[in-house]
Amino acid sequence: MTKRTKRIVSGVRTTGRLHLGNYLGSLKNWVDIQNEKKFECFWFLANYHALTTGFEKPQLAGDFLFPLYADLMAIGLDPDESTIFIQSDIPGHSELFLIFSMITPLGWVERNPTVKDMIRDYDVKSNVTYGLLGYPVLQAADIALYKGDMVPVGKDQLPHLELSREVVRRFNNLYGNFFPEPQSKLTDVPLLNGLDGKKMSKSLNNTIYLTSSEEEIEKAVKSAITDPGRVYRKDPGTPEVCNIFSYYKIFAPEHVEEIRKECETAGIGCSQCKKRMMGILSGIISPFREKKEELINTKAGKDRIYTSIFEGRKKAQEVASNTINEIKDIFHFEVKHD
Ligand code: TRP
Ligand code: SF4
Repeated sequence: MTKRTKRIVSGVRTTGRLHLGNYLGSLKNWVDIQNEKKFECFWFLANYHALTTGFEKPQLAGDFLFPLYADLMAIGLDPDESTIFIQSDIPGHSELFLIFSMITPLGWVERNPTVKDMIRDYDVKSNVTYGLLGYPVLQAADIALYKGDMVPVGKDQLPHLELSREVVRRFNNLYGNFFPEPQSKLTDVPLLNGLDGKKMSKSLNNTIYLTSSEEEIEKAVKSAITDPGRVYRKDPGTPEVCNIFSYYKIFAPEHVEEIRKECETAGIGCSQCKKRMMGILSGIISPFREKKEELINTKAGKDRIYTSIFEGRKKAQEVASNTINEIKDIFHFEVKHD
């Protein structure tokens, strides 16, 4: 294997099952990057990040580790090609987070719009912890620990990435050029809303999971809000205001013009139009679901997951402990016997 010079790092919070929005917004990008075979890839389950808003139900951050690891493998991440690991398995994340928190001015985290959004979305206004404010600082540590050059994320993560760069820049200015400044790598897909038009989110109950069953797909699509002006089957519709239509644009661009015409001329009814969308979504989701079932329901599959978690930890730890040792040198933390 030729040496891959650039490092890619990205993580996903372990707050629940993966949904289509996660996939289109970033995970699909992870798989594509891995398969380009140009970079050294580090993907991890961010269970400490899950705790920043979920600390009252600690088992949630842990109970999802196994199924999420299986999800990552089911969508095509390959432990032989990438280093796939669990954040809390590698102590360096906490250590570097602590060092970074020493040099991060409070104002930088207080003005971070994504943290503000989290505070609003999770309704934790009265309960904002030190850890939640430190969310992007921990994220900066996640990336810098592996000297990450590039970070594939969804659009909502850009303020965090900006902060990561600022922290790394500050570290470099203070202690010498040590970390690369991580660049973001966005997927070209727009943010995927739920079928009610609102942001896809578990708490809003509008989620289509990456491993949804056929019944779940059917239920989600059936309950979608279409053109409210189209009351009767014979009414012509306005596709631009319909959530199902926005899904056609994303998942079946080749059918968009046909659906637009059929809708505007009342040639197709909403239930028929939805049925077609169910088929399209099922075509994307069912291979993931089947692969995941094979992994978690067979002895061989389970063994593969456990072994991969173990190997991922070993590979990540090697890189991480190098960085931590170098940092301890900077701070003269190793007392040397002269
Ligand atoms: N904040 C990211 C998200 O919610 C998850 C994450 C944690 C992450 N650490 C990271 C992403 C480091 C990229 C790099 O999606
Ligand atoms: Fe939406 Fe399709 Fe109904 Fe038109 S026909 S309003 S695009 S569901």
